[in-house]
Amino acid sequence: MFNIHHFKTLDSTNDKAISFKENSVIIADEQKQGKGRFQRPWISQKGGIYMSIVLPIIENPQLYTFIAALSAKQAINNKQIKIKWPNDLIYRKKKLSGILTEIKNNKTIVGIGINTNNKIQTELKYKSTSLREITKKEIYNKHIINSLLNQFESYLTPLNPDRIINDWKKSSFLGDKITVKTLSKTYEGIAFDIDKDCFLILKDKKGKKITIREGDVLC
Ligand code: BTN
Repeated sequence: MFNIHHFKTLDSTNDKAISFKENSVIIADEQKQGKGRFQRPWISQKGGIYMSIVLPIIENPQLYTFIAALSAKQAINNKQIKIKWPNDLIYRKKKLSGILTEIKNNKTIVGIGINTNNKIQTELKYKSTSLREITKKEIYNKHIINSLLNQFESYLTPLNPDRIINDWKKSSFLGDKITVKTLSKTYEGIAFDIDKDCFLILKDKKGKKITIREGDVLC
């Protein structure tokens, strides 16, 4: 189903993907201007996985983000990795992977970054880790990419939002005490549920349920 295009160096696989057809996958060995959520940089040195999948527009693109996190988690196949809403893979409170979904030129671009063999910069070591650091072994990126794409495809055909959200919930941090920082406010409470729009439902101290539509969860 997917057509893979591999590049040695790109500014950003998400930006490159804009000019490609649906079902294209853009992979780069390194990115010079890797992008994260909220216009943050995504440091992308050689050794890591940097890829973007071009998909059609759907009503709720967050479903693609959920599929990407689930597929990456399944490809990595480590039970201790949890998905943190909306899109991070976390190992022992450290970030291993991030996803940036963008709508451009009437397409959805799902960008996935996974720290595999890339070096984690000293100043990020307190909050980020890599698969090589976890397993103490060299990681075969091709194997993870193939497995991720196979999982991704199985979630697309057919696209079943209930299955995606249920699988996501099973792999996530629901039930944990969390702090959520949105652009306007910080909330504390229990990660209670995910609704049908893929929004996070937080239960605060008084038992009030709050719907979080955007933001960062701090564990
Ligand atoms: C985040 O957690 O903030 C999202 C990070 C997304 C990084 C990936 S790497 C491949 C793709 N190309 C980019 O420029 N960004 C995404």
